Amino acid sequence: MEGKFITLEGIDGAGKSTHIDWIAKKITGRGLGLVMTREPGGTALGEALRTLLLTHPMLAETEAMLMFAARREHLGQVIFPAITRGDWVLSDRFTDASFAYQGGGRGISVNRLDVLEDWVQQGFEPDLTLYFDLPVEAARSRLELARNPDRFEQEKCAFFERVRSAYLDRAHKHARIKIIDANRTIEEIQADISVILDSFLP
Ligand SMILES: Nc1ncnc2c1ncn2[C@@H]1O[C@H](COP(=O)(O)OP(=O)(O)O)[C@@H](O)[C@H]1O
Ligand SMILES: [Mg+2]
Repeated sequence: MEGKFITLEGIDGAGKSTHIDWIAKKITGRGLGLVMTREPGGTALGEALRTLLLTHPMLAETEAMLMFAARREHLGQVIFPAITRGDWVLSDRFTDASFAYQGGGRGISVNRLDVLEDWVQQGFEPDLTLYFDLPVEAARSRLELARNPDRFEQEKCAFFERVRSAYLDRAHKHARIKIIDANRTIEEIQADISVILDSFLP
């Protein structure tokens, strides 16, 4: 039997990394094989592209195409093989992030991103997406305490407002995307995730 593909989404600082190990334990606790991965990245080439994407100035279109180029490697080398052999895959970000960041944030049209998505995924999409929704100001203040900002994290509040609203638009259009109110304690958020996973996991 094929494995399932779960993705985590949200603006920088929303809590994806905070929750990923806990989610992984819920999955492996059911005796399922699991591959944990991330985007951009997930392969040696993808990680090299990630470094460029997070540090090197480039045009919005270049950024979008590099994201999808890394994604094509990720699908072919990691995600498809894992799912085919029956493992589950848990990825910190996937294509919804391109619609949010390169679409909402950078202003690339949904139609153009749809073309790249069709080209790279040919109809494949995650089985379940947990979208951590957090007001931009709250994410900012969490991040200020946490780390040095990368090329995306250095963007202004207005950029992240556009990213967040693009995420929310997409979440409202796709039933696979579950909106999680991330503006609460870690325990409250985990209780929500538990309910979602309990109805999803075998
Ligand atoms: N529910 C929460 N309440 C308070 N702080 C949190 C919460 N979730 C995460 N954080 C903190 O916010 C920062 C950003 O979280 P992180 O998981 O790295 O976000 P992301 O991976 O989505 O960018 C980290 O320092 C983390 O410890
Ligand atoms: Mg993270």
